[in-house]
Amino acid sequence: MNAIGRCADRATRGDEMPDHASIYDHDAAQYDRLVSREDVDGALARTIADLIPQCVETVVELGAGTGRVTRLLAPRAARVLAFDAAAPMLAVARARLDAAGLGARVSLAVGEHHALPAPDGVADAVFAGWAIAHAVGWYPEGWRGRVDAALAEIARVSRPGARAVIIETLGTGTETPSPPAKLVPFYAHLEARGFARRVIRTDYRFADAAELAELIGFFFGPELATRYAGGRDVPECTGVWVREG
Ligand SMILES: C[S@@+](CC[C@H](N)C(=O)[O-])C[C@H]1O[C@@H](n2cnc3c(N)ncnc32)[C@H](O)[C@@H]1O
Repeated sequence: MNAIGRCADRATRGDEMPDHASIYDHDAAQYDRLVSREDVDGALARTIADLIPQCVETVVELGAGTGRVTRLLAPRAARVLAFDAAAPMLAVARARLDAAGLGARVSLAVGEHHALPAPDGVADAVFAGWAIAHAVGWYPEGWRGRVDAALAEIARVSRPGARAVIIETLGTGTETPSPPAKLVPFYAHLEARGFARRVIRTDYRFADAAELAELIGFFFGPELATRYAGGRDVPECTGVWVREG
């Protein structure tokens, strides 16, 4: 990933949150273990089925990571063009897609949100899961411009009428929406640009307390791991912002 001008989350928040950019470059397999424990009730899969009710020709995905959203999109499209800045994340995505028998219909390529290596007007729907909001932490002075550049790319690759869907956290460790304060202006920014918010729960359920401590601590830091110590479950509220084409 291009690190020029980017601040580590830790540096901008001054707390003990892990450095997520470093995780995407160096700990993709561990990240994939974490997200494979999210959405125990299948709400994300149901939401995607609702948003793509009929199989479409092409879906473009930004920030595909290790492919947990990609694997839900692939059965609903003849092809998925999925991009991410971190090649190590895409390597895990490729292995998981192939293992699921979905690899043939998914093209994975390194690509930044603001410069997608995709043709104009190709997408019947565009998805970005837990990916665009990183601009707020990484570019505290310039995130609005970066978000608008990503939205411009979403518009460029979209066919007329294509739906755009942005999925982001509304709070980890909360049973009702309680977004991180720094993301509130980002969500207002999306809504000012025509995105409408839905709320779903994508709770985590781990194999046991040791796995919860390991994986929650790894990605969210020690405070959250301590709060849920001894259990298996962590609630998660998720926002799904939809803009009709
Ligand atoms: C929290 S992960 C989400 C991955 C996947 N969508 C999921 O739901 O698990 C965020 C991903 O966004 C990618 N990302 C963040 N900013 C990016 C940018 N400007 N361009 C491309 N990828 C970006 C990161 O490399 C990382 O893989």
